[in-house]
Amino acid sequence: MPKTEVIVVADADELAARAAGVFMSAASAHVEQKRRFVVALSGGSTPRGMYRLLAASPALSEVPWERTHLFWADERCVPANHPESNFGAAWRDFLHVLPLPHENIHCIRGDFPPEEAAEAYELELRRFFQLGEGEFPIFDLVFLGVGKDGHTASLFPDAGAAPDESRLAMAVKGGTPNIGRVTLTYPVLNRARQIVFLVAGREKAEVVKALLEGTRPELPA
Ligand code: 6PG
Repeated sequence: MPKTEVIVVADADELAARAAGVFMSAASAHVEQKRRFVVALSGGSTPRGMYRLLAASPALSEVPWERTHLFWADERCVPANHPESNFGAAWRDFLHVLPLPHENIHCIRGDFPPEEAAEAYELELRRFFQLGEGEFPIFDLVFLGVGKDGHTASLFPDAGAAPDESRLAMAVKGGTPNIGRVTLTYPVLNRARQIVFLVAGREKAEVVKALLEGTRPELPA
């Protein structure tokens, strides 16, 4: 069984600070051990406090950014300058100030049609992780959110047909806004060395209780 830890914090500021702390320690540890740190980020509003902290001291100077590779757990299929773009929000919140080489940013092409964007992202994952046929990437750290319906990344509870387990990334439609999206798949997310769910808000209390107690195993999160 993977080790699970539940950390309850007082407010959004503490959530952001703890999350940024996890990012910083993981970055240092992985770079020290294997010279690179590979992390997948999520969209939505909850991680944005962490993103802003990563753009400031001490993270800005202490994270080994030149050895940090950023991927996304999911993306909405809109151009990067659209308010719903996960990459766009991350760019505005922190990416634009980071001393991060351009090639360390592995975003999902929201400006492509969903299927093409999923295929392009899968190719990028295969190239970066040097994957052979049937192999899956292993992220050092994945930040995920939870929706009050129990979705995570863009894996929605009402997605219909079971997802193709051989895919690394897939095109889906759903969520709010209900648009085309690209998401990492379960076999990729579940192989991560560490997953941090950032969850805030009274409206999510019920679903979080169900997830922690395991009473609704059908929920994606
Ligand atoms: C996306 C997501 C999604 C998000 C949750 C929680 O929509 O792009 O990555 O899974 O993490 O919906 O969103 P909030 O943080 O806004 O509540």
